[in-house]
Amino acid sequence: MITNIELAQDPTATPILPLTIDNLAQWLTSQPHATAAWCQHHGFAAQPGKYLAVPGEEGAVSSILFGLGKGGEKVGDFWSFGTLANDLPAGTYRIDTDLDPVLANHAALAWAQGTYQFDRYQNEDDVGNGIAKLCLPETADPAAIKGAIKGGFLARDLINTPASDMGPEELADAAVELAKEFDGTCEVTVSDDLLAANYPAIHAVGRASARAPRLIDLRWGPEDGRRLTLVGKGVCFDTGGLNLKGTAGMAKMKKDMGGAATVLGLAAMIMSAEWPIRLRVLIPAVENAVSGNAYRPGDILSTRKGLTVEVGNTDAEGRIVLCDALAEADSEKPELIIDMATLTGAARVALGTDLPAVFTGSDEIAEALNSAGEKTDDPVWRLPLHGPYRALLKSKVADLNNVSDGAFGGAITAALYLQSFIEDSSRWVHIDTYGWNDKDRPGRPAGGDGLAMRALFAMLSDRFDQA
Ligand code: BES
Ligand code: MN
Ligand code: ZN
Repeated sequence: MITNIELAQDPTATPILPLTIDNLAQWLTSQPHATAAWCQHHGFAAQPGKYLAVPGEEGAVSSILFGLGKGGEKVGDFWSFGTLANDLPAGTYRIDTDLDPVLANHAALAWAQGTYQFDRYQNEDDVGNGIAKLCLPETADPAAIKGAIKGGFLARDLINTPASDMGPEELADAAVELAKEFDGTCEVTVSDDLLAANYPAIHAVGRASARAPRLIDLRWGPEDGRRLTLVGKGVCFDTGGLNLKGTAGMAKMKKDMGGAATVLGLAAMIMSAEWPIRLRVLIPAVENAVSGNAYRPGDILSTRKGLTVEVGNTDAEGRIVLCDALAEADSEKPELIIDMATLTGAARVALGTDLPAVFTGSDEIAEALNSAGEKTDDPVWRLPLHGPYRALLKSKVADLNNVSDGAFGGAITAALYLQSFIEDSSRWVHIDTYGWNDKDRPGRPAGGDGLAMRALFAMLSDRFDQA
């Protein structure tokens, strides 16, 4: 899977020398005059993302100079290795400087992700330049890199796979496979068994699809370890249900399991890092479809927690399936519950595509996650669980409505809905994410993406990597 990263060192690999604008001049003073002349002739001034092959004896390439511009200190300055991986000719390369481990890890991650292509359905192999391989920098942490690449690729592949091949069953298969790989377990409760097991809300949303709804329950690590539970929205396709979406709204709804994909990717990172914890991943996997037995506006649903929910809109299905999974997660009283969901268009209106919205009752976690996001260049932004808006979810006939009838604050009201199913929101984080890159950026190709996954991993590693 890690096709363009070599874990072993290779002394014959072509060295890549990352240079900032500031240290290029300094570096040139230690080089033969010919090198400075070569740089000047090619207009290489360490501009960000630019590279220059420097000839050695007999015209062979002796090294690659790689521009970092004015940067070179922040993780974000190293995404450009993703472009370099595509631009360089086939061969084996190594980074010829002692990078700080965090930066070295990021350069390798960018290199791997830069060449990511979702090519499952393409007959022709577009190998471009062939493969430029990078030997893992010596200061990098192989386990961390492997985990990050595995998690990142897994989330992308799951999201990018069209709904026809990524239904509730296939999503469950992916979780089962992941559990197997790390010696965990994965139980899946399917179809009418959901009713017997008291997951009525998941069943109600998912029953209209020819592809049966299910609850995926992955567990890993010692039973008596500290508990961390991840919950992911696994809506494999969101038509909107009877409140059917329009053309534009439905176009990308194969990605409505982006929360599930991201928590599975995060789980892969955590299990690769072998944290001494008890990890649980709960994913309600459904297709929000239209048929004669579809749930309807006006229906009143029972939920696992016992609260009744009036369906104001069948397109607010994510919160309905999540509330059963959250109630189950909460019943075990783990140290922390994190749910991730492509929950609302409103979160995107508020923050755009690139900033997952964070809701939590813990100021400390919110701040830690915010700074982890900055550190890993995987930014998030907190929005408030503004209590007074809870009134917007009042129902005359049930304990709550699944939507507000107003048009404003939709990401907040969705989060407040979920909060009703959690006892102590200081142990809960809700993330409303886009799960997708609309545009190609270095190291972050357009398409599915597990946004906030690395930020969460960094925030959690300060808390959970010790027993
Ligand atoms: N999956 C969508 C939310 C979504 C849409 C996320 C586009 C990212 C991009 C969700 O199930 C949904 O349809 N939400 C509705 C809620 C509304 C009916 C209260 C929305 O946001 O319009
Ligand atoms: Mn919807
Ligand atoms: Zn949805």
